[in-house]
Amino acid sequence: MIVGFTYNSKKKTPSDMPEDFYAEFDEPATINAIRDAIASGGHRVVMMEAKEDIFEKIKSNSVDIIFNIAEGIRGESRESQVPIICEMFGVPYSGSGPLTLALTLDKAKTKEILLYNKIPTPKFQVFKTGKEKLINILKFPLIVKPIREGSSKGIRDNSVVKNKKELYERINETLSLYSQPVLVEQFLSGREFTVAIIGNKNPWVLPIVEVLFDDLPPGVNKIDSYEAKWVWDDPKKPLDCLVCPARITKKMEKTIREISLKAYNALDCRDWARLDLRLDLKGVPNVLEVNALPGVIPDPKCNSRFPKAARTAGLGYNEMILSVLDEAMVRCKLK
Ligand SMILES: Nc1ncnc2c1ncn2[C@@H]1O[C@H](COP(=O)(O)OP(=O)(O)O)[C@@H](O)[C@H]1O
Ligand SMILES: [Mg+2]
Repeated sequence: MIVGFTYNSKKKTPSDMPEDFYAEFDEPATINAIRDAIASGGHRVVMMEAKEDIFEKIKSNSVDIIFNIAEGIRGESRESQVPIICEMFGVPYSGSGPLTLALTLDKAKTKEILLYNKIPTPKFQVFKTGKEKLINILKFPLIVKPIREGSSKGIRDNSVVKNKKELYERINETLSLYSQPVLVEQFLSGREFTVAIIGNKNPWVLPIVEVLFDDLPPGVNKIDSYEAKWVWDDPKKPLDCLVCPARITKKMEKTIREISLKAYNALDCRDWARLDLRLDLKGVPNVLEVNALPGVIPDPKCNSRFPKAARTAGLGYNEMILSVLDEAMVRCKLK
C-alpha cells in the first residue's frame, strides 16, 4: 500500500518562548524510525510534514491511508487538523478522529466525560482569569497544569502547590506563559501507572507500566514533571523510572485495565492511545489524562512509555507501529 505519513518535526524554540514550546513535536530520530517501521511492512511511504500546506499535500497525493502522528500547528484543537483535512478529502487515516483528539487535548473536558461515565479522576477546577475563588472541595496539596498541553509542558516541579500564595502565583504564571485556561487538580500522592492500548473492537491492553520516582533528585516532588521527563532523565544517563510489567496484584491489574478500557471507549479512541493514572488515598486508580496521540521515541534509553509496554508484550518497534497501522487498515476496510 501507499502510506502517507503526517508528522510535525521539532524546531528550534524561538528565544521569546518558554524552553518547552516545541516539547510535543517529534525529533527526526522518531520520525525516521516510524518511516522505516511502515516501510518494513512492505509499504511505500510518502513523507508529509504537517506544515501549513498539509491541506495541499493531502488533497493532491493519492495515498491509500495516512499514518498520523501530527500534533498540529497551533490552536486549541490543533491535534485535529490532519484528521479533519483527511475527512474533508475522504482519505483514510490512523488513530482517533478530530472530535476525540480535540477533546483529549483538553484535560478538563476529558474529565467531564470521564465523570459522566463514572470513571474516577481527581477533583478539579478550571481557572480562566486567575481571580476565581478556590472551591472548598479542593484541599492542598494541589497541582496546577495548562489545560491543553502534553509531554509535561508547563508542569514543573513547582506545579505542586501547598498553599493559596503558591497556588495563585503558579496559576498566574501558567496563564501568562501558555495563554490558555489552567487546570487545578487534587494532588494524588499514590503510585503512578501508564496504560498503552492498541485496537478497536477488542482493544489489546499492553502490559501496564509503573512510573517510579525514587531516582529523582532528593527533595523534589514525585511527579513526571518537565524536568523529570526531559532534563533529569537524560539518555546518556537514563533514570531508572519505568517498571513493566508493573508489580501489582492481579486484582489491581484487573481494575486498572477495566478503568483504562472504559475511558478509551468513553472517549471513542481508535487504533491506539495511552492513559496516565494515579492511585488516590483509597488506592483507587484515577485517570489523569488520555493521550490519543501517544509519544513513541524509539531509543529504549529515552524511557518512552508506549514502546516500553510494547517491548514487554514482545512487540519490537516496527511491529508496534505496524500493529497500529494494521488496526487502522482493518477499521477503514482496506484489509
Ligand atoms: N492530579 C495529580 N496528582 C498527582 N500527580 C499528577 C496529577 N496530575 C498530573 N500529575 C503528574 O504530572 C505528570 C504530567 O501530568 P499529565 O496530566 O499526565 O500531563 P501531560 O499531558 O503533560 O503528560 C503526571 O504523569 C503525574 O506525574
Ligand atoms: Mg501525561
